[in-house]
Amino acid sequence: MTNKKPDKVFVWPIGTRIIHWMLALSFTTAFITSFYEELLHDHVALGFIFGIMIIYRIIWGFVGPQYATFNTFKLSLPELKFYFVEKIKNRWREIPAGHNPASSWYTVWAMVVGAVIVSTGLLLYGVQEAKGLLSFLNDDYSQYMELLTAIHQYSSYLFVTWVSIHIAGVMVEQFYHKTSMVFAMITGFKKAKGEDTKVSPILKFFSFSIIVFAIATYFFIVSSNYNFLTSKKFTEIDYKAQSLVFAQECGDCHKVYPPFLLPEKSWKKVMDDLDNHFGEEITEANISISKQSSIRDFLYENSAEHSTRESSVKIMKSLGIRRPKAITKTPYWRNTHSHIPKSVFKDKKIKDKSNCIACHKNFDQGELDDMNIIYPFKN
Ligand code: HEC
Ligand code: HEC
Repeated sequence: MTNKKPDKVFVWPIGTRIIHWMLALSFTTAFITSFYEELLHDHVALGFIFGIMIIYRIIWGFVGPQYATFNTFKLSLPELKFYFVEKIKNRWREIPAGHNPASSWYTVWAMVVGAVIVSTGLLLYGVQEAKGLLSFLNDDYSQYMELLTAIHQYSSYLFVTWVSIHIAGVMVEQFYHKTSMVFAMITGFKKAKGEDTKVSPILKFFSFSIIVFAIATYFFIVSSNYNFLTSKKFTEIDYKAQSLVFAQECGDCHKVYPPFLLPEKSWKKVMDDLDNHFGEEITEANISISKQSSIRDFLYENSAEHSTRESSVKIMKSLGIRRPKAITKTPYWRNTHSHIPKSVFKDKKIKDKSNCIACHKNFDQGELDDMNIIYPFKN
């Protein structure tokens, strides 16, 4: 068999190249969007592309064309050592057509770390955000949200480090060994000896179907807010229907504060101190004793201890043994709002930090979704 180009081998067919660049692009953009709460759906959608590409790459490793399959990987440690020794000793050494020992190790670990990132991401979306396919896990596993966050975050940092090493390696090939490695993943051709790879029509069809599927999934997620991949367990609460007394009496001067944002003992303090309620004096004349006790019951039943929502779990954790009278006094609230300049809360549209509804749409229906945060101070 002859090669199309002398001294060059066709190693990376279009499918492999697209996987490579879609992995790179989806990871980079998912990483960037992770720093913006309001871009959670974009982040998740990009994570889906990344995840589908990883699964595809693993399947490709078994059924794919030559050079892409795992059985052509060079994974023995002596080979890896020899690779680096030769790299240092012989600048003009010949390079293999497929994966060299370093890139074999690299690819395997990238798949493993990538799979950890994707699976913890999916779990986190269910356990913490109570959204998506795994939202049912929120009931029983909400105490693991911080652990999952840590694994998800640190594995992403590990991936960034890993990718940096890879890029550095490619640069050394490009500029020191002058093997023109950068272009291999673009054109598919590598300066090496070996046979051109061939891809069967079935594999080609398979590749393109997966790629179309991944892109379609992305658009499916970002185009409609709550479909089956992003649907949320906690929908808007009708407090009037749940407790008319609470909704009317405690929604009189301000919008109701959802009970799940403070623990029972905090609500007890609020109710015990109604005569000194943040500068207001609320007496039996305003809210009768029987109404007060019915409100109390409602608040206790629905307090933070009884909720598996992200905000409840995190408020409880942040409080330790403290039981403040205000949500804005909890360390969790302070932390999540610490980057908002003080002047923003004094703005005439907002007036006060306790005016949650100014920034959290449908807050009085228990809605604290990242997707519903209004940023009145941006723009
Ligand atoms: C007479 C008016 C009035 C009524 C009735 C009232 N509040 Fe308030 N409440 C206030 C004011 C004023 C504040 C201070 C924050 C603000 O300006 O909105 C406040 C603040 C709060 C806060 C603290 C919010 C934060 O900053 O974290 C909670 C919790 C609260 N109220 C709960 C209740 C509950 C529960 C009831 C029903 C029993 C109730 N309020 C009824 C006037 C009222
Ligand atoms: C000036 C606008 C503003 C006001 C007022 C405000 N918030 Fe927020 N809140 C934000 C922003 C912005 C974020 C997202 C923080 C971030 O980017 O990490 C946030 C985040 C949160 C979160 C975390 C949500 C999550 O899932 O990450 C909770 C809970 C929350 N706010 C509760 C409240 C409550 C309760 C009040 C009223 C006592 C309040 N906020 C008042 C702007 C505001």
